[in-house]
Amino acid sequence: MDGLIPEDSMEKEQLNTDSKIKNVIAVMSGKGGVGKSSVSALLAASLNKKGFKVGIMDADITGPSIPMMFGVNESLVVRDDKIFPPLTKTGIKIVSVNLLLPNEDDPVIWRAPILNNTIKQFWSDITWGELDYLVIDMPPGTGDIAITVLGMLPLDGIVMVSSPQELAQMVVRKALKMSEAMNVPILGLVENMSYAICPNCNEKHEVFGPSKGNELAKAFDIPFIGALPLDPELSQLSDEGNIEAYSRLDEFNLGEIIDNLLKERQ
Ligand SMILES: Nc1ncnc2c1ncn2[C@@H]1O[C@H](COP(=O)(O)OP(=O)(O)OP(=O)(O)O)[C@@H](O)[C@H]1O
Ligand SMILES: [Mg+2]
Repeated sequence: MDGLIPEDSMEKEQLNTDSKIKNVIAVMSGKGGVGKSSVSALLAASLNKKGFKVGIMDADITGPSIPMMFGVNESLVVRDDKIFPPLTKTGIKIVSVNLLLPNEDDPVIWRAPILNNTIKQFWSDITWGELDYLVIDMPPGTGDIAITVLGMLPLDGIVMVSSPQELAQMVVRKALKMSEAMNVPILGLVENMSYAICPNCNEKHEVFGPSKGNELAKAFDIPFIGALPLDPELSQLSDEGNIEAYSRLDEFNLGEIIDNLLKERQ
């Protein structure tokens, strides 16, 4: 893999003096649509519910989903030359390019250098204040933004998201190999849309085929964080901008699991 990652991607960006962020976690997958944004949102909501101070950086500049999932429409607030993130209903700070656009459905048609600078500024120019956790919702793939986030931001770990489809597994392997190549620790793997529960008979159905998350985690020698079901409540709450109200937040307990995994590494 030597030579594939540009040398200049290795210099870490500096945070501003008004901000102090204890732990930075990126949620990544390689493949689109497997649930990175949902897992980012659930992880942030779960950590926040445990009493941690939490922020989310929406690094999916051209396909931002975080503001909609949390029902946040306010712009970033500029005061005394500082840029402050708006808060979600339960007090999570969020930053997304959608909070800068005049209309939420305006497309972002920017070349890679501008996209990368936006990510760097989301880190260096936003007054995050004191955070225990910053969760970074990554765009799909192992492209330019992923190189910037993995190379230039001081990540404490990556949560990888897969789904049971073969295609997702193959693409997630690429993301896992990229993290290894860039020396960013992988905290573990979440398998999303792992199964569905029939509302009539309560039986478990493996809609996308048998679960492979555990196997994949073993193959890469990383912890298997857990399997999340395909749950109509989750997609409905996301569409309504109310993901923090998910009734199974405590059951899946992503915040505690990931906080423990991180402590084990430190
Ligand atoms: N476990 C789940 N149960 C039900 N719906 C889900 C689940 N996970 C994700 N979804 C829905 O699937 C869609 C895609 O999920 P999400 O946006 O989290 O994926 P993503 O990997 O971030 O996609 P992208 O690659 O486009 O950023 C969303 O509409 C979301 O609400
Ligand atoms: Mg997404």
